[in-house]
Amino acid sequence: MLVAPSILSADFGHLARDVAAICSGGCDLVHVDVMDGHFVPNLTIGPVVVEAVAKAATKPLDIHLMVENNSFFVDLFAPLKPGYISFHIEEEKHPHRLIQKIRSLGIRPAITLNPHTPPEAIEFLIEDLEMVLLMSVNPGFGGQKFIPSVLERAVRLKDLILKRNPECLIEVDGGVSDKNIHMLHNAGVDVVVAGSYVYGHSDGVAEAIASLKRV
Ligand code: DX5
Ligand code: ZN
Repeated sequence: MLVAPSILSADFGHLARDVAAICSGGCDLVHVDVMDGHFVPNLTIGPVVVEAVAKAATKPLDIHLMVENNSFFVDLFAPLKPGYISFHIEEEKHPHRLIQKIRSLGIRPAITLNPHTPPEAIEFLIEDLEMVLLMSVNPGFGGQKFIPSVLERAVRLKDLILKRNPECLIEVDGGVSDKNIHMLHNAGVDVVVAGSYVYGHSDGVAEAIASLKRV
């Protein structure tokens, strides 16, 4: 299991320290939640802060866009050379075009699906994607309760991926902890995002990450 801690639960007064801690603590990706106050009822960080995150990180950034104007935000973040950029299918009229644009910028393209969106909605995009992110909470905030129907969506998505592009990864985001990591693993999930679990763990971030990787 690959682990992408969400810095949304970090201490923003000590952001560089908290990003360095997950990287030296064994994470695989640094998950960055970008919210615009329109697509979701919360507002987070822009390129100035993400640049500071990129400087502190020794692992690739996994930028999760929760915004209305995806193409504009891709242009903003592309110079930081993130490993992945994902955008929400619910907010994009021309997903195929945007995937090609992200790839042409040297970034791995990914698509995110809200809890109500069936995996079949992106069946004919899978061959062009590096990763599909399934939300297991409603996007907007850390610390929410895991929605278990993501497990059935992951199983259905895995079938489509095996048919269309077996290299494509499945990532799950929201409410992930040691309580559901085994179920996620059994459902075929490759990457988990975890914010409050990792940064709130009483034994520290490295042990939290290790506990998710031990599955
Ligand atoms: C929610 C974000 C998540 C969030 C996860 O909109 O996409 O990445 O930070 O936080 P936890 O792990 O606390 O649910
Ligand atoms: Zn996220």
